[in-house]
Order: sequence, then C-alpha cells, then structure tokens
Amino acid sequence: MTERKDSRSDTLKRGGPIQVFYTGDSKPLPSIERAEGIYMWDSDGKKYFDGSSGPVTTNLGHGNKRVIQAMIDQANKVCFASRVVFENSPNQRLAEKLVELCGPGFDQAFIVSGGSEATEAAIKLARQYAVAKGQPERKIVLARNPGYHGSTLGAVSVSGDPESDMVFGSMFRIMPKVPTPFSYRLPENHDVDSYARECARKFEEIILNEGSNNVLAFIIETVGGLSTGGLVAPDHYYESIREICSRYGVLLIHDDVMAGAGRTGKFLSCEHWPNARPDLVTLAKGVAAGYTPIGVVMASNEMVKTVVDSGGFLHGHTYSANPLSCAVAEAVVSEMIDNNLMDNASTMGLYLMEKLKEVAHKSTIIGDVRGKGLLMAAEIVENQETKKMLPVSCRAVYRLVEIGIENGLLLYTRKTAGGVFGEWLMISPALTVSKEEADELVRLFTKTIQIFEKELRLATLI
Ligand SMILES: Cc1ncc(COP(=O)(O)O)c(C=O)c1O
Repeated sequence: MTERKDSRSDTLKRGGPIQVFYTGDSKPLPSIERAEGIYMWDSDGKKYFDGSSGPVTTNLGHGNKRVIQAMIDQANKVCFASRVVFENSPNQRLAEKLVELCGPGFDQAFIVSGGSEATEAAIKLARQYAVAKGQPERKIVLARNPGYHGSTLGAVSVSGDPESDMVFGSMFRIMPKVPTPFSYRLPENHDVDSYARECARKFEEIILNEGSNNVLAFIIETVGGLSTGGLVAPDHYYESIREICSRYGVLLIHDDVMAGAGRTGKFLSCEHWPNARPDLVTLAKGVAAGYTPIGVVMASNEMVKTVVDSGGFLHGHTYSANPLSCAVAEAVVSEMIDNNLMDNASTMGLYLMEKLKEVAHKSTIIGDVRGKGLLMAAEIVENQETKKMLPVSCRAVYRLVEIGIENGLLLYTRKTAGGVFGEWLMISPALTVSKEEADELVRLFTKTIQIFEKELRLATLI
C-alpha cells in the first residue's frame, strides 16, 4: 500500500503548524494532489469539476502535454537570464504572437509576472508618456467603483473597493472613481441603457471637475470579473467613453487580465467593440493559463518610442520577461489558437448561458445570469422580484462555494465592498470545455443551488 502524503487538513487536524499564510481564513482546505483537463483531485482522492478555472485562470484546463513539454524543453535550455544582460528568444516569440493577436495599436509587449504588476506597469508607462510629451500635470488615473485591478498599492489606488480604501487609503492617493454601469440593480428611474449613458456623462463630468489637463488615464474592466460578476455594459457605453477619452487626451486602459486571452471569445475583449479600442491593454491569467505566473502590457510603438527616447521606461522586475515563463505562455497561446478555443469559448458560452438561465428560472435565489463568452456569473438574491439580497448571516455565496466543494464542484467568489453591490458566483470553465462537460457543470451547479435552497427553507428564510 502506498503511503498517503500529509495534507494541510491533516496537519491542521493534528494542530500542527502551517508555515505559510494567506488571507487568514483558518478553515482547513483540501490539499491538491493532481489535475487533468477540467478535473482536480485532492490528496484524499476526491474529484472536483473546476467550474471557474480557479480564479478564472486555467483557460486550457490542467495537464496540457504541449505546454508541459515546452516547459521541460525551455527548462533544459535556460530557466533564468537577467533581462538587463540577455535578450531571450521565448520573450521575443511570445511578444510576436501577442502583437499578431492583439492587432492594430498594440505593437509591443512588456512582460511581467501577474495582473497587479501589469496594472502598475501600464499606469507607469502612461505617466511617463505624458511627462515625455510635456504634460507632467496629467497624473490622475480615473477608475470605476466598483472595479478591481489588483492588490498591490498602485493597483489598490485605482480599484474601486471602499473596504480596501478605508484601510490603505491614508497611505497614498486613492484615485477618483466613476460609477460602474450596472445592469441588474439600477438606480430609480433608470433602465440599463439610460444608466450606462448616465455613467458616461458622469465620467465626463468628473474629468472636467478634476481639470481635464490633470487626468492621465481611465482604467476599466470591459467585461467585469469578480468586482461586478460578469457585467457587460451596452455597446454605446464603450464607444462613449472612448470618444470622451480621445476628446480630453485621456489614455484609455482596458484591464483584460480576466476578460482577455480568449475568455470572452476574442483575444482582446475590445474586439467586441471595434470602435472603442483602448490605448493600453493589460493581460495576465489566461495568457499562461495557470502554467506559470505572467502579466503583459500591450502598447503602441509610438508610446514606447516616446518613453524610451525620453530616457527609458523606469520600471522592471527581476522576473520581467522571464525565459521559462515566456516559453510556457507562448505554448499556451499557440495551443489555444491551434485548437480554436476562442470559437469554443463563444459557442460554449452561449450554450452555458442558456442552460444557466434555465437553472435560474427554476430556482428562487438566482436573480441574474450575465457575462460574455465563458466569463459568466450568477447573482444570488433572497427575492427575484425585489432583487433583495439574502441576509449577511446566510454567507450566501460563501456557503454555496462550500456546498459546491462538498459535492465536487469548484466555484469562485469574493464579495466586493462587503457585498453592498450584490453577491455572485463566477462560472467560467476552461475554454476547452465540451458540451458533455458543460452539462455536467450545470448538473452540479443545479444540485449546489438546490441544497442551499433547502438549507434556507429549513431556516425559514425563503
Ligand atoms: C480584472 C483584474 N485585474 C487585475 C487582477 C490582478 O491580477 P493578479 O491577481 O494576477 O495580480 C485581477 C485578479 O483577479 C483581475 O481580475
């Protein structure tokens, strides 16, 4: 008999020390043992369906042979070489591929190790560009509330999360926020269209209030991630904010960390709004699909040249353009293209959306299902008519994640601003998802919802 390896929960059960810390949640977690395709197994042999691709990351599924081979091949050549001393061909090959996929206006890639680093790099590049062009007064980066662009301090300053601002806000400048054009819970006397127009109008008003010459950039998630649960605004919103940015010389940054790299059915989410292309795009998660840490800023030749000619980009990390990460990411992106996974994301996204709407229709607690491609979320409510939320004491989305885990389904959630804007579960399987797997996901999700509804009935909450 083979001896089972010690798991985190075993260690916790024994009261032993766990010498790493995360956010402080001390509940024992299952310990991961292995993963293949859309499934994961813990150290007790329990199988899970990865219904959210982790934190919307493992776009290719697990254990992709081509990516693993690329990892081995590159590791056998060289894992690390300082970007300051050596150029490396994986970095160049990845950049070439990204430039081709991102299309006009994105001629150069700056490669880092994650989404937050990409946010920092994009803001610093925008700032240096403005300074180089003789506009040093441009230093305000507008962002939306709610919104999320990462957890480093610069990214927190543009992430509309009042809870986080309260703790960290006194340490640096929290940037002004613009309302996010929600589509589900709307202010009185508004429909989705009129509220999106109001948000665009408010955006312009805030530019003018701050002094248009002081505003450097506007950063948005085109299709919402966790901060808004798959929010998609009406087409005219994206076009309006593009036009307003151009009118006032404000750089538009699309944070495609979650929505990019094919997840919405296009490589960049802005391809859904061809008249609203941004000046800068950040990517991360899906570019390496969880096989290695990576983040990317895509910029134009003109912007990069202006900054380089002014003395160089004042930015960099030890792991910038790391050869091993770049080789792995290049294999991930190639695998996605060669297997038409963006088309699959569109097709299966539509299929899953339809199925999830049927689940919502039969349930009493799913108020809305929204998203684009395979970036989707289900909003949880107490009352579908009034859209009233369940009491905080129910821990609704957290309990649903627990029930999912108990029943072998992995979902992803976190309440933005303590849940004042609503609460939702991300449903975002790998771009490789087949119809049979999508059906299995729907079955597991339905079961999860039904168990929670039963718990609520027993507690006489519905
Ligand atoms: C839209 C968006 N931007 C930025 C980030 C930060 O990325 P990372 O966690 O890789 O630093 C995330 C992470 O979830 C995200 O969803």
